Amino acid sequence: MLRLNVNGEVHEVETDIRTSLLDALREHIGLTGSKKGCDHGQCGACTVLVNGRRINSCLTLAVMHEGDEITTIEGLGRPGHLHPMQQAFLEHDGYQCGYCTPGQIVSAVGMIGEVAAGWPSHVSADLGGGPVELSEAEVAERMSGNLCRCSAYPNIVDAIREAAP
Ligand code: FES
Repeated sequence: MLRLNVNGEVHEVETDIRTSLLDALREHIGLTGSKKGCDHGQCGACTVLVNGRRINSCLTLAVMHEGDEITTIEGLGRPGHLHPMQQAFLEHDGYQCGYCTPGQIVSAVGMIGEVAAGWPSHVSADLGGGPVELSEAEVAERMSGNLCRCSAYPNIVDAIREAAP
């Protein structure tokens, strides 16, 4: 029996030790907002936050995350009380089919936290480090792990830049 803290709620999960965190979330807990695109770390549709840091939940085992704080798209906002990043995606049409959108939004929230913590990217490092300005190139680099097959990238970048503090 696993105990997973997801969106502030503890879930007891009866599962095989080989179950990925993504499958535990979707199939055992019923949180289907995190999507399975590739199931091998290439698309970012499954992105969740673990202790505030973004990870591909398809690449990690659920059993590794007892005691962690896991946040999925369902934990960021609710209808009528959207997270500012969700609101910005709505206002900028930061999606087309929408399949990648939960991963994009969760990843963007995690990315903002990385910037606040001073984590460099290749773009900001090439500019000599220092405070990061979330230019289009900076956002594109930092979000490069999240693919959009519809190619809604310009609107996604606009949304993220607006929601960034
Ligand atoms: Fe996890 Fe694609 S489903 S990265």
